Amino acid sequence: MRTRWWSLSAAALWLLAIVVAALSSDLDCWLIALVALLGLMTLASTVVSLTALRALARVEARLARPLPVARKAAAKPKAPAGTLTDKDLARVRRVVGADIQRTFRQSEALTNLYAMLPIQHALPASRGFPASPDVLLFLVDLVDRQRSRVIVECGSGLSTLCFALALRQFGIDGRVIALEHLEPYAEQTRELLRRHGVDDIAEVRTAPLEEVTFGDEVTSWYARSAWEDLADVDLLFVDGPPATLGPLARYPVIPFLLDTLTPDAQIVLDDYNRAKEQAILQRWQAEHPGLFEVTSIPLEKGAALVTLNGA
Ligand SMILES: C[S@@+](CC[C@H](N)C(=O)[O-])C[C@H]1O[C@@H](n2cnc3c(N)ncnc32)[C@H](O)[C@@H]1O
Repeated sequence: MRTRWWSLSAAALWLLAIVVAALSSDLDCWLIALVALLGLMTLASTVVSLTALRALARVEARLARPLPVARKAAAKPKAPAGTLTDKDLARVRRVVGADIQRTFRQSEALTNLYAMLPIQHALPASRGFPASPDVLLFLVDLVDRQRSRVIVECGSGLSTLCFALALRQFGIDGRVIALEHLEPYAEQTRELLRRHGVDDIAEVRTAPLEEVTFGDEVTSWYARSAWEDLADVDLLFVDGPPATLGPLARYPVIPFLLDTLTPDAQIVLDDYNRAKEQAILQRWQAEHPGLFEVTSIPLEKGAALVTLNGA
């Protein structure tokens, strides 16, 4: 702004000087006009140069001040609500990756089961309440290797069918007894066994839950009438009653069925990833020191293979 006033004043003074010079001399008017023009052009170029220099100085001064720019660049842009951050994405990648791996292991186990067992009709869904393919494969392989002859299981379903098919496939003259506290599930399993033609090998016993006490602790377990005749059990699969009944839901199986087991029987406790099942097994060990050899099997829901020491 100051430059503009300064240049206008200088131009006015120059023109005034030219007019005075023209009036007081007898120079040619064209020459005077040329001198006036040259003077004005010189003045204009000086003003332009000065303005450019000042603008350059301003730019340099701004560049020499890095802080505001740096602060702006360093400030973390706030993601709009609902946008996934890099941390979220890494977590999703981890969870999905682990799930794909788990699912692959289950489908691998299922493929193996289909190859090992004579399955000619549809199987019900596995996983969730029913046993997972990986534990079913583990059990079928156990029957194959140990040639189990009397198999008892707590909680009927897909596992009952797999045990029966395994006995048939491996030519073992054995039988399966499943304890089931709910009649609809018992009947469902019986129908499954009939459909697959193994109802002569496996039996599902409806065994309503009855209240039982251990000292001052109360829980419930399968009705005594359903299991009191059992003997020579060499494989016991513990997959019931549902753990939702309480922390002791599966504890009574050893107090009640220990005497029915052969000296080198094997017990498979499903859902061993759960704290409840781990506590139950610790309690069995504490109550029968040295009787059990325990191997934790890394399966989807976890399982403990408990072998009696043969005494
Ligand atoms: C863990 S499940 C036993 C599963 C069985 N071993 C199998 O492989 O299918 C324990 C009990 O849950 C009950 N049960 C089975 N399927 C169920 C379902 N879809 N919803 C609720 N309870 C179920 C039955 O009474 C069963 O004995």
